[in-house]
Amino acid sequence: MSAPLSAGDGMDSGNLYGVGVGPGDPELMTLKAVRRISASPVIGYFAARGRPSNARRIAEDLITEHHRELRFDYPVTVECLAPTQSYEQMLLGCYDEAAARVEEELLAGHDVAVLCEGDPLFYGSYMYLHNRLADRFTAKVIPGISSLTAGSAAIGRPLACGDELLSVLSGVMSADDLKTSLVACDAAVIIKLGRNLVKVKSVIESVGLLDRAYYVERATSAAEICSPLADADIASAPYFSMVVIPSAVAGLR
Ligand SMILES: C[S@@+](CC[C@H](N)C(=O)[O-])C[C@H]1O[C@@H](n2cnc3c(N)ncnc32)[C@H](O)[C@@H]1O
Repeated sequence: MSAPLSAGDGMDSGNLYGVGVGPGDPELMTLKAVRRISASPVIGYFAARGRPSNARRIAEDLITEHHRELRFDYPVTVECLAPTQSYEQMLLGCYDEAAARVEEELLAGHDVAVLCEGDPLFYGSYMYLHNRLADRFTAKVIPGISSLTAGSAAIGRPLACGDELLSVLSGVMSADDLKTSLVACDAAVIIKLGRNLVKVKSVIESVGLLDRAYYVERATSAAEICSPLADADIASAPYFSMVVIPSAVAGLR
């Protein structure tokens, strides 16, 4: 059996592109992202099993019958795991499998554009493909407008100014860690809310920041929702939502 081809074996490998498609509004894709998606024969994207991909939805007007699509399904969390399995292990397996599918295309000489909601390297799944493939193939990143700046635009408040310290926190953090981080910064964005919203809200209230905090859902999309966090009376937030605690002083100068 012949050895698998790799870059430099006489056949030109394709290039890998991590393409940021922005936070939701298709008009917020960069010109470079639009050009790259249109020019790439293969389009990849991650999605929750059984659900449409948000990144693909943002770019859908650019995807034609001339593109081949590689959909990478995340493992489902509610599946019963064997005692020896963890969700983290399953995720690693999912990334390995996705990287192997992309590698096959690259070795065949096809360029692959992997769509990523927001920016590919800002908490984006593309990074797991980049980490697995960039040492053997040409891999380029096209940055995108991230949800962070989409959130502050949605509430119309400066996120941070001057010497202020801005923290990006995760709703998955423990209440104690969230509290410590919030008192140590001047402004914050809390992503990955889901069922953690109740905990996040109560921590924000406990450190006296509730009157400055906003809840933002699906920023920049047609379904955008934006309200003071105090008025967001929901037990569980959808995946594409965040809390923004903007600068305390920027509006005063
Ligand atoms: C894994 S991170 C991906 C961030 C993305 N790469 C970016 O640059 O914005 C996903 C989290 O970002 C936040 N998020 C992404 N897009 C959003 C949007 N349009 N509106 C509100 N939150 C968003 C949510 O908190 C979500 O749980």
